[in-house]
Amino acid sequence: MPPAASLRPFQLDRSLSERLADEYGTPLYVVSEAHFRDRARQYTGAWTEGDVSYACKANSNLEILRWANGEGLSIDVASRGELEAALRAGVPGGRIRLHGNYKTEEDIRAAMQAGVAEVVADSLLEIAHLARLGWRGHLSLRLALDVHAGSSEKISTSHPDTKFGLSVATGDALAGVRSALDFGLNLIGYHCHVGSMMPVPGPVAEAARSMAEFAKRTQAATGFWPLALNLGGGLAVDYTPEDDPVSVSAFCASIAQAAKDALGKDWPELRIEPGRSIAAPAGLTLYRVGVVKRSSSGRKFVAVDGGMSDNPRPALYGARYTVQSFRSGASEATTVVGRHCESDVLFEDVDLASDVEPGDLLQVLHTGAYNASMSSNYNRFPRPAMVAIDDSGGSRVIERRESLDDLFRREGGEI
Ligand code: LLP
Repeated sequence: MPPAASLRPFQLDRSLSERLADEYGTPLYVVSEAHFRDRARQYTGAWTEGDVSYACKANSNLEILRWANGEGLSIDVASRGELEAALRAGVPGGRIRLHGNYKTEEDIRAAMQAGVAEVVADSLLEIAHLARLGWRGHLSLRLALDVHAGSSEKISTSHPDTKFGLSVATGDALAGVRSALDFGLNLIGYHCHVGSMMPVPGPVAEAARSMAEFAKRTQAATGFWPLALNLGGGLAVDYTPEDDPVSVSAFCASIAQAAKDALGKDWPELRIEPGRSIAAPAGLTLYRVGVVKRSSSGRKFVAVDGGMSDNPRPALYGARYTVQSFRSGASEATTVVGRHCESDVLFEDVDLASDVEPGDLLQVLHTGAYNASMSSNYNRFPRPAMVAIDDSGGSRVIERRESLDDLFRREGGEI
């Protein structure tokens, strides 16, 4: 594995992309093990305060979970399915943390059975459920702190209107601490995740200060002082040159310092759980161009063989990406669309070589997070394969392409 500093951004050259497309077909998710591990190591190297967890909602492919586990990251799961993924990847229950704003009884029982290390409670009712079900593992409380963060309201998760967490402002958070202590639950501390795709550490630092203030007030009221404070994930990646996030090390240094300054000398273990900033830069998507045409308004459209089913982020969040062809001539503003049966704009007004033709390959960078994990079968599209690239350019399938039969497996059978 090359040292961190020597890794250039993950992208393919023409010959490797042609080879992969010929061998595995398109659309194709391609992930680089070296880049994933490098980002994980940037975190474990920069975060000396405690646990670093991989938020596997970003990409919970089993092989990727093995890489995260192998790098010493614990795993944050947000559903029964993600829990099962972590277990199947060989992650011990004691290295898993369970999240979710509504965990079913089945989720909690599955976590108990797997010996999950920690549940992050999201409501007063859930604390009571955990006590009733006999939860013996660690418990932390997700706090809603009224901090605005994230590149869009849809991925901002600790504002006054959020569905997540126990509100500090309404008194639910303090009531949660009292209730957890009354039930004799093994309360270890607090959690927050204020938002995603944040280019600067400011909002997380603000959240850390706000958590510290809550911790102090709560200590005065109940005597409880946390053993661990989890600051969540949230660091942005450079999807386009306009995104200019701080480095992993600068992000970590800044939020750790803010937390320690605010907590005073008795600071507890500090934890983080990044997702996007580990997985996104380690992945790209290869598409094959099928159609090139111009609308009456003059807009140039290039249609590729995927769409919102393999990358719903542009449609959901207005997300932008870097799209590259393997041609070197002059470029022009081009709108890349998918082939779904609606206005399936993937990449609007990107700079693309003006002589792009049907049959060309395009690579879209930084699709390693929240693409495969958010993919769908809309229009009965089979999901793409995922291929891992190793250091020497060798490749292997880590998730095969769905077949047409896969699409009908659930129909016509038993419940
Ligand atoms: N911890 C918790 C509790 C979270 O809810 C999340 C993300 C993370 C950690 C990881 O955050 P990250 O480092 O990836 O920003 N689908 C959206 C992103 C949703 C993020 C949800 N929570 C997108 O594609 O932009």
